[in-house]
Amino acid sequence: MSEKAILTVGDQRIELPVMKGTDGRLSIDISQLHAQTGLTTYDPALANTALCRSAITWIDGEQGVLRYRGVPIEQFDQAPSFVEVAWTLIFGRLPTRAELDHFREQLTANELLHEGLKAQFQHIPADAPPMAILSASLSNLACFHRQFIDVEQPERLVEAAARLISKVRTIAAFSYRRSRGLPFIYPDPSLRYCANFLHMMFSLPYRQYEVSPQIEEALNLIFILHADHEQNCSTTAVRVVGSARANLFASCAAGVSALWGPLHGGANVEVIRMLERIHAGGMTPEQCIRDAKDKTSPFRLYGFGHRVYRNFDPRAQVLRRLCDKVFADLKQPDPLLDIARRLEELALADPYFVERKLYPNVDFYSGILLRGIGIPTNMFTVCFAIGRLPGWIAQWKEQHDDPHSRIIRPRQVYTGPGESDYVPIDQRS
Ligand code: ACO
Repeated sequence: MSEKAILTVGDQRIELPVMKGTDGRLSIDISQLHAQTGLTTYDPALANTALCRSAITWIDGEQGVLRYRGVPIEQFDQAPSFVEVAWTLIFGRLPTRAELDHFREQLTANELLHEGLKAQFQHIPADAPPMAILSASLSNLACFHRQFIDVEQPERLVEAAARLISKVRTIAAFSYRRSRGLPFIYPDPSLRYCANFLHMMFSLPYRQYEVSPQIEEALNLIFILHADHEQNCSTTAVRVVGSARANLFASCAAGVSALWGPLHGGANVEVIRMLERIHAGGMTPEQCIRDAKDKTSPFRLYGFGHRVYRNFDPRAQVLRRLCDKVFADLKQPDPLLDIARRLEELALADPYFVERKLYPNVDFYSGILLRGIGIPTNMFTVCFAIGRLPGWIAQWKEQHDDPHSRIIRPRQVYTGPGESDYVPIDQRS
């Protein structure tokens, strides 16, 4: 017999169905609660609410486990490319060689920007934040590729996805070049995904940037580790916008906007600011820990804590190891890495962080790594967005394909005044 939850409110006794995920976790189904009883539930920040059913990514926050379509992320450490992971997330299984080759060809065919979109970069101030440019440009893709606003046929969705995943790195690189006043470098179809991005970022018209295999591999792994993270803040933004049947470009632009925030993807920038401040002598690691614990200060230990992980974040562990490897390969130590290790050591020994189960998250080491491979600080969150894009597309597609999906429209607990009369402006005291 299927399980039921019993809710008693006053003299009402309400039976609620209980759902079970394929992982055995239970969820009380309140989808009919308001229609049948007029009651709502209060769950600020949706911390206890399953927004959807999803078969894409699985997290065990207590054990520090993350799987894409069932495969633990540690297994992505070795073989696959980011493009293979993207295909897997979006289409639900590992691709055949033919499918992957075809997808790669589509990415290559779509790597250029429409000249009209490229021209827009000339009118953006040189010091514009690259995340603002990225969000606007993803939205603008709908102006230049209007045929993909409607993706009812599956092939259309594949093409729209390929366009987004390919063009995002061209847009990102062009926004960096604009900020430095450097000429745009067109993509090179002979290069793989990450190498092509690095080429557009760092080549000069008269000198091709030589992509080191270690750097290419590191960037590939960084993108993979960011590729999806179930119903996080930016993905929820994508789902909310997509639930109104807004197109894929507009929905992913909303994801970029959410990711920009310092409590989400913007934390990787805050981590570096914090480490640089310590390095410049503006604060000691001990002071940093004290400030993070001070409830009267808005300061937080950036790169620490997570809504879901109550144990280590497995992505942070992979990135920590990758840091050691990359800096050893580069033979170019970064003093910020030593400061980060010291901060981690202090925090993990401090009862404040231990009791609250606050551990390093993905953003703690990603910034140091990106810095190590030559990416400037204002591009860190952009790199996160390039990595996260396949996840947003996969989640948008899953919702779009779900015949039961409805517009996301929560309720509220109203705390404002009761009915009151409008008073003309000259009669107000
Ligand atoms: N530094 C200091 N205290 C912290 C931190 C931190 N980094 N993170 C959480 N806490 C404290 C909170 O103040 C709270 O303390 P209290 O119980 O005394 O009130 C307690 O730990 C629980 O934290 P919440 O705020 O409930 O955690 P929540 O799930 O709402 O927020 C978040 C998670 C936003 C990630 C938070 O840990 C944080 O702000 N971290 C720093 C920013 C960051 O690194 N963000 C990146 C997250 S990963 C990602 O989005 C890709």
